[in-house]
Amino acid sequence: MKKKELFKVLVIGSGGREHAIAWSLAKDKRVSTVYVAPGNGGTFYEPKIENINLTNFDELSNFAFENNIRLTVVGPEGPLSEGLVDKFAEKQLPIFGPTREAAQLESSKEFAKLFMQRYKIPSAKFKSFSDPSLAHKYVKATADGPVVVKADGLAAGKGVVIARDSREAHSAIDMMLIDKKMGAAGNKIIIEEFLQGEELSFIVATDGKHILPLATSRDHKRLLENDRGPNTGGMGAYSPATDHSESALQQQIMSAIIEPTLAGLRAEKILYKGFLYAGLMITEKKVPYVLEFNCRLGDPETQPILFRLKSSLFALCEYALDQELDKYQIEWDSRCALGTVIATQGYPQSPINGQRIGNLPSNKPDMHIFHAGTIEKDDHLFVNGGRILCVTALSENISTARNQVMETINAIDIPGAQFRNDIGLSKK
Ligand code: AMP
Ligand code: GLY
Repeated sequence: MKKKELFKVLVIGSGGREHAIAWSLAKDKRVSTVYVAPGNGGTFYEPKIENINLTNFDELSNFAFENNIRLTVVGPEGPLSEGLVDKFAEKQLPIFGPTREAAQLESSKEFAKLFMQRYKIPSAKFKSFSDPSLAHKYVKATADGPVVVKADGLAAGKGVVIARDSREAHSAIDMMLIDKKMGAAGNKIIIEEFLQGEELSFIVATDGKHILPLATSRDHKRLLENDRGPNTGGMGAYSPATDHSESALQQQIMSAIIEPTLAGLRAEKILYKGFLYAGLMITEKKVPYVLEFNCRLGDPETQPILFRLKSSLFALCEYALDQELDKYQIEWDSRCALGTVIATQGYPQSPINGQRIGNLPSNKPDMHIFHAGTIEKDDHLFVNGGRILCVTALSENISTARNQVMETINAIDIPGAQFRNDIGLSKK
């Protein structure tokens, strides 16, 4: 019998999303090894997965060349916006992700807003400023209701201030443009209209020609229960976040947002290959507005989404690399998945690291602990980042998945850890 060819793949990143991507790729029998650069304490222990301690682009591309890597998937926005895909493409190494130019949809909020304006993609009204006095003047001239102040550049999900009134808006302007609390990411800011409704993460894979929507999901960005406290990278997510009655909404998202976005990119001669994430606000009247684009999968949305993916993620990426995504048959587990994040004490402002992680239960077919800020030392796990773990369960409905997650979380021992009890609480 002919021996099946085996492939090695590479995942870039160290978060919970990258753990889930690597775990999902490793499920394909044609994949012999998934390298994760640099990975975390969770990927360290997974079968078929190996951490490699590389972050430099030259070293990564040399590694991919020398090890005959069949596919590289980039998890986070940083390396995408810094041109890792361009580097691999120069050397003709297969990689799934957008180029630096295409990644501007995420790396510059102003670029994304102007792009949406050009292609009439529904989004909040906005103005951009680099001069604080003009920004203050604008706020003074606007009605004293809530507005949203955003750093233009990348800020790991923490560059957005929802100002409840003009006093908070003025202080957010000073914080970004004068005190430079967001560094260079806040050299320019966007002030935009506050939208109300329910958020939805709508993520698609695209090969530049075809679009494949993934299952819907909903993230919870605020640190504290009932959506209070500062914005974080995301404290928990579930999938699906729409039901059968909402197929019209999904079609509307495709036709009013996703398709015009990809058509706009094509019109500007930007080839977009990779995952594209539209962070949406669905108004009470069920109209979707774009809050932001991300040029990658979401974290923590990826953990529940990929837990539900029954078909091969490796095959999805292979088809996409060949621009034949239309031939890929995507298959989902009909059950629901929910993941709750355990974050370290002090997150997001001043995360504390180094605590030992105790009582971590083993993974099961319907419960997987995806790691983010963890590190393995002498066969023990320690906290090494803001978000530590995403405990993810698959069950008949969101509510039973949540029960399973909460039971697991309550057994885990991490001094001072924070998590939200209310992820998926109001859902059946
Ligand atoms: P962004 O990074 O732009 O997605 O913003 C992070 C979070 O801030 C979003 O997920 C929303 O929860 C909130 N947000 C952003 N823009 C707006 C807006 N225009 N109106 C209301 N909430 C917003
Ligand atoms: N969960 C939000 C993000 O990945 O940007």
